[in-house]
Amino acid sequence: STIMVLNGPNLNLLGTREPDMYGHETLSDVEVLCRDTAAALGYEIDFRQSNHEGVLIDYIHEAGRRIKEGEVLGVVFNPAAYTHTSVALHDAIKGADVPVIEVHISNVHTREAFRHHSYISPVALGIVVGMGVQGYALGIQGLVHKLSA
Ligand code: DQA
Repeated sequence: STIMVLNGPNLNLLGTREPDMYGHETLSDVEVLCRDTAAALGYEIDFRQSNHEGVLIDYIHEAGRRIKEGEVLGVVFNPAAYTHTSVALHDAIKGADVPVIEVHISNVHTREAFRHHSYISPVALGIVVGMGVQGYALGIQGLVHKLSA
């Protein structure tokens, strides 16, 4: 079975974007980390990034369909800035009934006040915050731990 790993806006710049905040590893490095972590647990990874809210919503809907077909286990999702703005992503996760582990590389709670609220957390199965890119690996492990029989 497959775990979808979704990344929101600006995460394509990972490695060069605010390295003091987000580290030097690129999104390709994160993809390798996710693949290795999932493989050790017997899962495959479908890894995606988009800068567009509607595209991310379509991916969540796709995840919902593929979960019903037994092909996808769930989603590890770093919604990036849409975390703090998107009622539409909240509704998509709820409406498509998708188990989501929310991941943030940085500890958003030590940062600006506008990063303290998440529209995603109330519809998330679990949350990993402030663990660097390792949070993706922890998110995958947590998803499997919570959902696999
Ligand atoms: C982020 C935190 C968000 O506040 C920010 O907009 C991002 C990345 C993180 O992974 O720490 O783009 O989701």
